Amino acid sequence: MTHDSAPVPEKGLFVEHVSHAYDGLQVVRDVSLTVPPGEILCLLGPSGCGKTTMLRVIAGLEPLQSGRVALDGAVLGDAVTYVPPEARSVSLLFQDFALFPHLTVLENVMFGLSRMPSAERRPRALDVLAQVGMDGYADAYPHVLSGGQQQRVALARARGPRPRLMLLDEPFSNLDFTLRRQVRDIVLTVLHASSSATLMVTHDSEEAMFMGDRIAVMNDGRIVQQGTPEQLYTAPGNAFVLGLFGEVNRMTGRVAQGHIQTPLGRLCAPGLPEGAAAEVLVRAEGVRPDDRAAARGIVRTSRMLGRSTLVHLDVDDGAGGALHVHARLPGRTMPAENERIGLGLIDEHVFIFPLADGER
Ligand SMILES: Nc1ncnc2c1ncn2[C@@H]1O[C@H](COP(=O)(O)OP(=O)(O)OP(=O)(O)O)[C@@H](O)[C@H]1O
Ligand SMILES: [Mg+2]
Repeated sequence: MTHDSAPVPEKGLFVEHVSHAYDGLQVVRDVSLTVPPGEILCLLGPSGCGKTTMLRVIAGLEPLQSGRVALDGAVLGDAVTYVPPEARSVSLLFQDFALFPHLTVLENVMFGLSRMPSAERRPRALDVLAQVGMDGYADAYPHVLSGGQQQRVALARARGPRPRLMLLDEPFSNLDFTLRRQVRDIVLTVLHASSSATLMVTHDSEEAMFMGDRIAVMNDGRIVQQGTPEQLYTAPGNAFVLGLFGEVNRMTGRVAQGHIQTPLGRLCAPGLPEGAAAEVLVRAEGVRPDDRAAARGIVRTSRMLGRSTLVHLDVDDGAGGALHVHARLPGRTMPAENERIGLGLIDEHVFIFPLADGER
């Protein structure tokens, strides 16, 4: 394949048309992305879609098979160039903290600073430990630290050499819910205070929205959409992206006179040709009790989930059957079981995408 090459930007990470196969099996397909200095880009996608492979190629741990990788204007890998990982000014942070058990916290961080003049290593190590709130543990060994503390030390070790690029691969996935929130906060603060470009892998959309200035959604080796968290949430380009950012109810139909008839009402389908097959996707938070609405459903169960209540409904499908629908209501609104209620939709949570015939 040949591509027009874009000029390499002077600053930040630049990845262009990268593809990768293991033993002939293609797992990364023509990925291009950029991360300016100081920005966090989250690579979000399901298990096996090629996220870790992307990081490994960028770090130089996998040989580049096609495309181009550059950092701060210098090519790290292309058809003729291969800069080894240790010469890339790239730091990696993975889910297994990989601290050396026989070294203290301070020694672990200093280990990453072997290229620095020896007199500067100790103060720099203490400085980055202080940034993550772990300077009080400088002389402790890793086994006495909690998982969250170990991950903070690993972050300090990765930050120590002032890398121009940080690569984070599911860095919080070994931490329980509460610790994850604490460590995420610290990592975000430390990264925002630095001028490194950061590429972070996650399969958790909430985490991607929390951490990312921008998000690149990956599926089956390809980037399917890139944008700010708000852009991806409010204007998902397809059903896959929409489905990553919350639970959706799915219906299908055909466009007739610019509209699609669904069990939840007749919806406007602008831009779709007459007779086209389409899928209508409604976020669970887009379904609301509404006495004036024509759509009717029977409440099967209601479950309080803390800040919201999830209501399971069977909605008349207009053909003598029922469509199972989930509605997420704010607060503690709890419709009674077996109650028959009217259902309305909130426009901003309703999406219509064309379907290829046969896809229904
Ligand atoms: N060294 C390898 N040799 C052969 N196949 C591999 C190798 N590493 C990964 N794969 C395969 O490549 C595909 C992509 O793997 P990768 O680890 O990049 O996915 P991922 O998006 O990071 O997934 P996860 O979220 O589960 O970590 C998978 O099908 C995986 O089985
Ligand atoms: Mg992975």
